[in-house]
Amino acid sequence: MNSLSHADLDKQTVTKAYDRWAPVYDLVFGAVFERGREAAIAAAERVGGRVLEVGVGTGISLPHYSQTCRLCGIDISEMMLRKAQVRVAEHGLTNVEGLWVMDAEKLSFPDNSFDVVVAQYVVTTAPNPEATLDEFARVLKPGGEIVLVSRVGAEAGLRRSLEHFFAPAARKLGWRTEFSFDRYANWATRTGGIRLIERRAMPPLGHFSLIRFAKDGTPGAAHAGALPEYYQTAQTAH
Ligand SMILES: C[S@@+](CC[C@H](N)C(=O)[O-])C[C@H]1O[C@@H](n2cnc3c(N)ncnc32)[C@H](O)[C@@H]1O
Repeated sequence: MNSLSHADLDKQTVTKAYDRWAPVYDLVFGAVFERGREAAIAAAERVGGRVLEVGVGTGISLPHYSQTCRLCGIDISEMMLRKAQVRVAEHGLTNVEGLWVMDAEKLSFPDNSFDVVVAQYVVTTAPNPEATLDEFARVLKPGGEIVLVSRVGAEAGLRRSLEHFFAPAARKLGWRTEFSFDRYANWATRTGGIRLIERRAMPPLGHFSLIRFAKDGTPGAAHAGALPEYYQTAQTAH
């Protein structure tokens, strides 16, 4: 088994870890990831239209999109999603089309459903990151963008050694510390119709990057994309 297919995190561990994080997630990770979220939302807004937030978590980003973006959110952790549901209701976010418990690796959306797929601090927490990216490319409309804020591991030096040392402990918390930029770049190279268009270092300490991919084709060339039955919606939250 090669490093690309080997799932060093499993779904149960990740789901349990985020179910546990849910009550304190915003307190611990709200401010620290704020700049990355702002950059991802700005990139998504430049494309606009229907946006899928993968690993939407507690829905911390949702109120920051403009009302003209139609938002769909999915997450593997029901406890995180419950927080998102409350947030959608409290902010009266009528542009949220729905929130679903769903695995990023097996999205229940038809091909070409979204103008933008956003995943903030998610791809390296997924058991099979490349399979997850394949799904993003599938549900993205031609001319659309994948916008990630993601961990990028160090290539060498002290940080690389520390990441290697802490990897087993981090896995128990639902994270990967080691994840080279080559994995994102190589995925794009071997995925037909997908181009890497930006990589920008993000705080804290540049350990994360804003990474954007474009899908070749003409915007608007896709069908509307029927959505699966709602798990929770802004309309049913009350
Ligand atoms: C670090 S949190 C990021 C949450 C949010 N995007 C933010 O900006 O704070 C990672 C999220 O991804 C979700 N996640 C991890 N693996 C997933 C998968 N395979 N499918 C869907 N969601 C997943 C977790 O449950 C968690 O809510």
